[in-house]
Amino acid sequence: MAMAPKKPYMKSTKVKRSVRLNSWRKNTQNGLMKWKACRSKKWDWVPVKPLPGAFIVNFGDAIENKADEYGSIPVPNVQYLAMNELKEIPSRYIQPKAETDRVSIDESREIPVIDLQELLHGQGGDQMASFHTACKDWGFFQLINHDVTEGIIEKIKGDAEEFFRLPLEKKEAYAQQPETIQGYGQAFVVSEEQKLDWRDIFSLRTFPIAERLAKFWPTSPTSFSETIERYVEELQQLNLRLLELIAKNLGVDADKLTNTCKNGTQWFRINYYPPCPQADKVIGISPHSDASLITLLIQVNEVEGLQIKKNGTWVPVKPLPGAFIVNIGDALEMLSNGVYKSIEHRGAINPERERLSIAVFQLPTSGILVGPFEEVLGNSGAKYKTVDYDEYMKSYFGTKLEGKRALDLVKLGEI
Ligand code: OGA
Ligand code: NI
Repeated sequence: MAMAPKKPYMKSTKVKRSVRLNSWRKNTQNGLMKWKACRSKKWDWVPVKPLPGAFIVNFGDAIENKADEYGSIPVPNVQYLAMNELKEIPSRYIQPKAETDRVSIDESREIPVIDLQELLHGQGGDQMASFHTACKDWGFFQLINHDVTEGIIEKIKGDAEEFFRLPLEKKEAYAQQPETIQGYGQAFVVSEEQKLDWRDIFSLRTFPIAERLAKFWPTSPTSFSETIERYVEELQQLNLRLLELIAKNLGVDADKLTNTCKNGTQWFRINYYPPCPQADKVIGISPHSDASLITLLIQVNEVEGLQIKKNGTWVPVKPLPGAFIVNIGDALEMLSNGVYKSIEHRGAINPERERLSIAVFQLPTSGILVGPFEEVLGNSGAKYKTVDYDEYMKSYFGTKLEGKRALDLVKLGEI
């Protein structure tokens, strides 16, 4: 029987991700309550058959934007993928740039080391001068003698390792849900086409306290939630001390700077980087700058991987035992009118061993405007727009991690 010619208007029966909110459904497979994205599926046109007397309800754009603010498209669990002795790494993880970008092997290039006790009590201001240079020329430094209780650092490292050793189903009890990147999953996946990082994360919005979502705070290991609580509290204090010292170096009133994060948001994130037999073809975390004012990071075991961009080459960071790796984020680059730099960094993968890091991001208070302080304008005037930081965060989370893309959008001309 001859086929009837296709009618032109019938030609395409598929639409691509036309209704994003509808793209989430609950999946109760394996007895697990888990949100699963269907965005990966090609969408068919589905006729609506109204029930007598029923309303047909759909979400508008306003709700979609709110719901999806920082959400990420769920993708395969990388730890699980890596466990299954892959013959070949799925192509979505192969990143040509991982190989072509040069890695500096100049061991003499290392990020500066800053001693907090010297900053606070040192004579002559030498350490304050080194601190200023570190923030200006490197945007990264290692902080020693920081007063954070050693016991709590060891505890958070142990609990983090134990959490990631739990079976997948246990970790998935904290799986991310569509409206947020809190919980266990991935971040910055915004399209089905983009390359993926070789990493899983567990993240929480730890401040303001009123914004904490209990369902994501882990009960396994049993001490984990309490450990996180104590850890982030100490780090918040440390952040404030650093901001006060930074204000001094910038010639800005300390309150003015610390007020930018009064009741501000703090994010806690554990990065889990499984080993990969083709480690040089994948990237643990793509090059990016942080959206924070300040980020405080520790490496959990001795496996290194963090690299920072300095004069066009990647410089590996060699963490000192017990030190925090501190970096200036985009918000501080804007507030300081570019005097301090939010430096691009990325994470490499080890072929044999897993790597874990714990990052705490101090962000400005929700709802405030962030732009250069007048004290630092100099003769050249503002080099950055003043922006609503919630909007900035939306723009930051709205695409794949890509260098300093979000920051470039708020720059006024060349810096
Ligand atoms: C981050 C980050 C680097 C690392 O989480 O933003 O840059 O060493 N992590 O894990
Ligand atoms: Ni980072």
